[in-house]
Amino acid sequence: MTARFLTPFERLGGREVLHRIVDDFYARIDADGELRPIFPDDLVPGRERQKLFLEQWLGGEPLYERAHGPPMMRRRHLPFRVTVPGAERWLTHFEAALVAEGTDEALAAEIMTALRPLAMRMVNTREVETQQGGGA
Ligand code: HEM
Repeated sequence: MTARFLTPFERLGGREVLHRIVDDFYARIDADGELRPIFPDDLVPGRERQKLFLEQWLGGEPLYERAHGPPMMRRRHLPFRVTVPGAERWLTHFEAALVAEGTDEALAAEIMTALRPLAMRMVNTREVETQQGGGA
């Protein structure tokens, strides 16, 4: 018997589909006035690393690890100011990119359920400036 379950990566449609989703996701980040400033001027290198990481995370080839070593995602995000509202925006854009690609609803829900705690683990800054002001 060779029957086996498909990975989420295979169910999504593989590399080409994932790359379209990540490109769309990054276009949404680029257009987001709140999130864009925390990203570097050039979005392309990060976007390409995101493709490698997500392929690996969804059960495809371990491309990220091969190219960049252990993911250690929280640590890699420490230089960037990630707040809870920022993580929510990140998740909203990712979900919108999945929907725009026509991802099966059950699969999209599964992916978002697994991504949420991961995104929240990247949070490294408490958002206080709305109460306390961000300085003059
Ligand atoms: C499930 C959640 C997330 C995943 C899987 C993820 C994944 C990644 C990956 C793979 C990279 C490239 C790391 C590298 O090799 O240098 C990256 C970079 C980055 N991420 Fe995330 N991330 C997540 C959440 C977030 C959130 C919530 C924010 C901010 C709101 C954020 C902001 C950034 C920034 C600013 C970079 C640097 C981009 C660059 O170097 O071009 N990430 N992320």
